Amino acid sequence: MSEVAEVGGERLEVLLSAERIAARLPSLAAEVLARDLASDAIAVVALKGGLVFGADLLRHLPHTFAVDYVQARSYGSGVVSSGHVELLRDALLPIEGRDVVLIDDIVDTGLTSAFLLAHLRSRGARRVELVALLDKPERRKADVGAAITGFAIPDVFAVGYGLDLAERYRGLPFVGVPLGASDCA
Ligand code: IMP
Ligand code: MG
Repeated sequence: MSEVAEVGGERLEVLLSAERIAARLPSLAAEVLARDLASDAIAVVALKGGLVFGADLLRHLPHTFAVDYVQARSYGSGVVSSGHVELLRDALLPIEGRDVVLIDDIVDTGLTSAFLLAHLRSRGARRVELVALLDKPERRKADVGAAITGFAIPDVFAVGYGLDLAERYRGLPFVGVPLGASDCA
């Protein structure tokens, strides 16, 4: 029987505990570093979903890395992807000729990550590596190349550790699945 947590009156099935996530971070950082990034690489966190993962992963990456943010929108406030991605916020640092690590919450259809990878490359990055906490391989529609991902999960709607359901649950220390929301994935 998997663990169930109650959050604000909602029951969530715990998919990845805080301990499991924390235990994965050093090896994920090692996978990023194995790509031989320059010491002045830029870690670009994809807001808002990548915020919590990005903050934790950064502590395992070289502290010479610069940090910036991008924000794209694809889902609106609902749970069904529109397939259309727009850039709401661009990275402010100059990217041309630099190594970039794009830190995202989840590669679901891959449309958002693929869009952001293409965007950062179009700004002249020397190289862009994608690292995402979660991966839903069954749902892939866009090629995201050799992405580094923390955990492959089934086709469920996950919340917590940065991921939201209508802006709720981002601050949860674990990744869970709202029970009774199985028709939302
Ligand atoms: P995409 O389908 O890979 O383009 O995913 C776009 C964005 O939708 C992700 O960056 C997440 O912010 C959000 N998303 C995708 N799957 C989930 C999920 O299971 N829970 C919460 N947000 C999700
Ligand atoms: Mg996102």
